[in-house]
Amino acid sequence: NKGSFEHYMQKEIHEQPESLTTTMRGRLIRGGSSKGKNVLLGGLKDHLMSIRRSRRFLFIGCGTSYNAALAARPILEELSGIPVTMEIASDLLDRRGPVYREDTAVFVSQSGETADTLNALEYALDNGALCVGITNAVGSAIARKTHCGVHINAGCEIGVASTKAYTSQIVAMAMLALAIGGDTISNQARRDAIIDGLFDLPNKVREVLKLDQEMKDLAEQLVAEQSLLMFGRGYNYATALEGALKVKEVALMHTEGMLAGEMKHGPLALVDENLPIVVIATRDSCFSKQQSVIQQLHARKGRLIVMCNRGDAASVCPGEATRLIEVPQVEDCLQPVINIVPLQLLAYHLTVLRGYNVDQPRNLAKSVTTE
Ligand code: UD1
Ligand code: M6R
Repeated sequence: NKGSFEHYMQKEIHEQPESLTTTMRGRLIRGGSSKGKNVLLGGLKDHLMSIRRSRRFLFIGCGTSYNAALAARPILEELSGIPVTMEIASDLLDRRGPVYREDTAVFVSQSGETADTLNALEYALDNGALCVGITNAVGSAIARKTHCGVHINAGCEIGVASTKAYTSQIVAMAMLALAIGGDTISNQARRDAIIDGLFDLPNKVREVLKLDQEMKDLAEQLVAEQSLLMFGRGYNYATALEGALKVKEVALMHTEGMLAGEMKHGPLALVDENLPIVVIATRDSCFSKQQSVIQQLHARKGRLIVMCNRGDAASVCPGEATRLIEVPQVEDCLQPVINIVPLQLLAYHLTVLRGYNVDQPRNLAKSVTTE
């Protein structure tokens, strides 16, 4: 049921404050005078000790689910101190990459039925890794075959373009990182700040959804473009990849998400006064590096659309022509949840304006059950 919305994708974008609330429901402990703040993931409690002892984490998924894992990688590395390797499921299988008994392999899948991810799971099980699922569909193959896991509880997602599952996956994996890092005193203040940030996140998503009309205006400006670039780094490298995936898959516009740190190693050659470029420059430890990326793109007359936190316009705006997307600031590791929302809205409006099928993009299926 689409309710008052015209498309499922639109409905699913706008229901993210609620889907995120259900992802977190019953899993966050606010703490009090005697008890500290904490995270409780029922599905992991019997396995947490072995997960903490693992030598390496492997994050395995496809498409949007891979991007969500990429967004959560830095906080998992920070809170656990354990190296995290990213694997696109098909590529791990193509290489038959080494997987060991000391590894924890985390399988991220909305549907829980994606063939590549499922085959990678069989492969990791054969190799003796501890296999953890981050899934939306209860009773799905990946949820059943993993040793343990976390249901993201985002509710049924119907649009082929994944939106609310993406933000719930990031939150579920941030909670996973908090649970794994929960045995050390040294990061307690950081963990408390993230838990407070999680409680407030649905409200912040509600705020960023108010950019709907602004994103529609931006879509009108970009509707006839041939291509679009998106630059991100750190926590928001994933935002660039996911924003680009959304625009290409539904609006059928060639869009590339790129690591800003790689700009001078090739992509800079594409920059001219015609190609629109989205640069994500919200506040985190990479902010000053993104400021200099903006300066360099501006120096080459790049057509810039800069995403920044409210109040940062003057710090990121090199020229009059720069278009801004101002978003509320949250804890750095949660900022990808906020930052993807305007890009989801942009992809949605571009698709409508270009006259393409929003919920069923050509050639694509909601779950890819064959390799
Ligand atoms: C569970 C119940 C939830 C109830 C709550 C009360 C289910 C599906 N969930 O939620 O309805 O409100 O207890 O305490 O009945 N799992 C995997 N792989 C996955 C995902 C999950 O193996 O990819 C396993 C988990 O390890 C766990 C079970 O499935 O054993 C349920 O997971 P989850 O729904 O995340 O657990 P709870 O949040 O505790
Ligand atoms: O169900 P899954 O999360 O395993 O699906 C993975 C990809 O097929 C999926 O995310 C795909 O990239 C989406 N259409 C992206 O919007």
